[in-house]
Amino acid sequence: MGKDVIVACDFSSREAVLSFLDKFSGEGRKPYVKIGMELFYAAGPEIVREIKRRGHSIFLDLKLCDIPNTVKKSMAVLRDLDVDMTNLHAFGTIEMMKAALEGLTRPDGTRPLLIAVTQLTSTSEPRMRDELLIEKSLPEVVMHYAMNARQAGLDGVVCSPLESPVVHGGCGDGFITVTPGVRFADGAVGDQVRVTTPERARELGSDYIVVGRPITAAEDPVAAYRRCVEAFVD
Ligand code: C5P
Repeated sequence: MGKDVIVACDFSSREAVLSFLDKFSGEGRKPYVKIGMELFYAAGPEIVREIKRRGHSIFLDLKLCDIPNTVKKSMAVLRDLDVDMTNLHAFGTIEMMKAALEGLTRPDGTRPLLIAVTQLTSTSEPRMRDELLIEKSLPEVVMHYAMNARQAGLDGVVCSPLESPVVHGGCGDGFITVTPGVRFADGAVGDQVRVTTPERARELGSDYIVVGRPITAAEDPVAAYRRCVEAFVD
């Protein structure tokens, strides 16, 4: 499987994301683009089609979680948008994840990659215990949800690069790890807590790194993107 750098395009308008992507028009390699809730809710499905028409692969990060029938039908809509990767919350149960896969599968049997969110990195162990009444440790919950995702037939999980080795150990090397929390060694950390450089993410076996502000807020985003590709892919 090809490793790649996914650029988190956390913009709030069509104009902002397209003018950002215009900077890459001379590049041989088209960045893999992550479209999250902010942009999708602001600009709608048409922005997905437009970025796809420009030749980018797309990870549509909408983190679905609902009853199985609703998720299945929603996934069928995303399938028709021809995205390359999308995701859901493993919390929605194995039955929901299986329904999602059914909805996502095209008549010819192909489908976008489907990735599970285990526990959000914003959820701490005390919050999990006190608010969600989950008594297990965070790593146990992450691993258990990853195993559920694999059992449902999903392709992988979103996790920290630091968790890639244990996820691959438990779920197999073919189970994809999509890993945010990536920063250059000489760059700003911002609100990310546990960060990893692209080089280290590669050593740890991440399959895709998701990089937002180190590229989108860089003085020269194309140079920052190239730097990530050289460190992680080449
Ligand atoms: O700007 P930055 O590199 O921190 O962006 C990381 C991207 O990955 C953001 O779109 C963020 O929402 C997403 N993400 C994350 N941590 C997770 C899941 C998703 O940072 N656990």
